[in-house]
Amino acid sequence: MSTTRISFPDHFIWGTSTAAYQIEGAFDEDGRGSSIWDKFCHTEGKIYKSQNGDIAADHYHRWKEDIQLISDLGLGAYRFSISWSRILPEGKGKLNLKGLDFYDRLVDELLMHGIQPFPTLYHWDLPQALQEIGGWANREVVYYFADYTHLVENRLGDRVSQWITHNEPFVMAFAGHFTGEHAPGIKNISTALQVAHHLLLSHGLAVQAIQAGQKETTQVGITLDLSPIHPASNDEKDKEAAVFFDAFKNCLFLDPIFRGKYPEVATRVFESHFSDSKIIKPNDFQIIASSIDFLGVNYYSRIVIGFDPNSPTYNLNFVKPKGNDYSLMWEVYPQGIYEILAWVWQDYHPKAIYITENGIPVPDDLDFDGKIRDYRRIWYLEDHISQVHKALKAGVPLRGYFVWSLLDNFEWTYGYRMRFGLVFVDFETQERHIKESGYWYSRVACENGIREFQQHKKQLVT
Ligand code: GCO
Repeated sequence: MSTTRISFPDHFIWGTSTAAYQIEGAFDEDGRGSSIWDKFCHTEGKIYKSQNGDIAADHYHRWKEDIQLISDLGLGAYRFSISWSRILPEGKGKLNLKGLDFYDRLVDELLMHGIQPFPTLYHWDLPQALQEIGGWANREVVYYFADYTHLVENRLGDRVSQWITHNEPFVMAFAGHFTGEHAPGIKNISTALQVAHHLLLSHGLAVQAIQAGQKETTQVGITLDLSPIHPASNDEKDKEAAVFFDAFKNCLFLDPIFRGKYPEVATRVFESHFSDSKIIKPNDFQIIASSIDFLGVNYYSRIVIGFDPNSPTYNLNFVKPKGNDYSLMWEVYPQGIYEILAWVWQDYHPKAIYITENGIPVPDDLDFDGKIRDYRRIWYLEDHISQVHKALKAGVPLRGYFVWSLLDNFEWTYGYRMRFGLVFVDFETQERHIKESGYWYSRVACENGIREFQQHKKQLVT
């Protein structure tokens, strides 16, 4: 048994992530207002088996136990999201103090355990009342988001040092407003592009609000879902299709944030939508490009794109390369995390980067002895963390890594079918059990690296 280790720099942060709607439950308690995800889930036919986040992992009641779990695992940071409609049930106007109190207690408890809080201000759960006035397609909502940010910063900013404005604005804009698979379920490309612009603008205003806050040392960033986009073949048409999809998926958000403009390819293709709606106002890019302290990257897989003259969506086709490993949701492609980190660093020079999500759904269950032997998750994490290490060695300013997710939870349209947790949740009893991956990750965090012998174990088990 070798003890050679892949070691990480001192102060590297090992954490785990969750999101409010996916774990909290208590959807109508203590004055919480409804969000677009409540509405969407309660609409027949939208979610696997008509499931919803009404109870989810009951974290709103079990938050202490859950923080204890993070502490038992020896993790140094916890990324969670704040539910806007708990704090402002109508999205604006009347404040619900009980909502703020919940996150106040959560932050205190985390700090008491020596765990750094990384709150995300928006993880897709817009207050339904704001959807009724047009949602993110309405520019006013941008300013309501800034007001909400001020409120939250005012209450928590004396203790929180790292803030994330948005989680995956690409998914919010396009799954929510173009394919309609996510809340609010709109299918209109012009609306999706308006929403994308407004999300970016609201990010810029939130950055300014946080930076004007209570502590000079506070850091603020945004989390983007980034993937390397590969062409399905060497054919010129496939390559062009991949370049366009890259501009759309990655650069549509990175370029405005780091360069203060939209990527040329995307603007050309989407020009009519942008100019028709006159959504871009003078100074918008100046706000959007407000300097951030770090970029959060969520990585799960690469995307392979082919040209398809018959495809209704910009002649693009998503290709599944044959012979590769697949999880329940995506291709397993660990080198992609290195590729995306190296590329984003070289092209955009963020001051610092955190991997804010990385993980895999596995059909876990309790074994006869009460263990959850999720070795596939361990291999996935080990392979990805090794690639993260390679990126660090190449000079990428990586400061931390967060596993998605702490707990099994409500996986959007998949409901409870997909289990991503380091901790198993029995949704009947709400009992928690740490999975083998949880114990493994705990060792990684405590030893600040990976033992090589894990690789041997992998061969033994396969
Ligand atoms: C996302 C979100 C998470 C998901 C996770 C697994 O990337 O979709 O940030 O809410 O649950 O990524 O799909």
